[in-house]
Amino acid sequence: MTSVPVLLPRVSVRVPAKVNLELRVGPRRADGYHELATVYQAVGLYDLVEVTHAPQWGIELTGRTREGVPGDASNLAVRAAQALADHAGVDTPVHLRVTKEIPVAGGMAGGSADAAGALVACARLWGLDLPAAELEGIAAGLGSDIPFLISGGTALGSGRGEHVVPVLTRGKYHWVFALSTQGLSTPSVYAECDRLRAATDVTAPEPDQVLLAALAAGDRDGLAGRLANDLQDAAISLQPDLGEVLEAGLGFGALGGIVSGSGPTVAFLVRNAEAAIDLAVALAASGTAADVRRAVGPVPGATIEAAAAR
Ligand code: C5P
Repeated sequence: MTSVPVLLPRVSVRVPAKVNLELRVGPRRADGYHELATVYQAVGLYDLVEVTHAPQWGIELTGRTREGVPGDASNLAVRAAQALADHAGVDTPVHLRVTKEIPVAGGMAGGSADAAGALVACARLWGLDLPAAELEGIAAGLGSDIPFLISGGTALGSGRGEHVVPVLTRGKYHWVFALSTQGLSTPSVYAECDRLRAATDVTAPEPDQVLLAALAAGDRDGLAGRLANDLQDAAISLQPDLGEVLEAGLGFGALGGIVSGSGPTVAFLVRNAEAAIDLAVALAASGTAADVRRAVGPVPGATIEAAAAR
């Protein structure tokens, strides 16, 4: 018996943010990207992407962190939905409603998360039965982090970050994120990294086996000691107060701290949920961070929350 796909009027997808536990940046490639060896972890800070059939393409933004996000067809989520429509030969537009909670231009892949959400939501809305590799291919064409945000969990990223394989992880990791008032542009941070390393012979990036062993063992202290980000110096060079945020968080008792991706969000690993509350309060009360968030990782990637007729 063949199953007939049901056309759904509305699909909601929840998509997490990410932190890079390790981000090793290799030489700049001919296409302008950098070869990476990275360990991604999806953390429980979410954007929600809802799609409905509509007479024309459109997007509406709500949520705490929507300021500064393009509310038109230049938004990466709209471009993702249109790329999928082109790929699948779909000619029915959708309206997207994105509820933003992930920090914007913060190094936590908020824009990529919305694109991942749009792909998963539209594939379901249009009743497409695409192989995962095909959806990931479209995702990779739109941004290096997007394939990871579809799969989530903890994963090793290679290439420019778009090739992901799951990493064995035990336990839950409690994170506190110190947000900055000013975003950082990812291309400028990579450019600053190149500038700072201009006199250095940059070798091919390799993942840290000790960090991977700590994850496999569920060893929080071991992981904390191996957090590493080659973009951190560049982010601090562009926003020097990030160095003070890192110092303050460690001074308040975090097990480890790192600039998240290209920054400026700073991620602190702590022992448990109670320590996360204590650190979040200390960072906020001391005026060290403009805003703070707590989250646990790893969590699954883009997940369909509701697919309903309404
Ligand atoms: O792939 P994505 O659009 O997220 O990348 C944003 C920018 O970050 C790129 O245009 C590039 O400047 C930089 N980048 C890089 N190497 C990577 C990933 C991103 O240089 N591996």
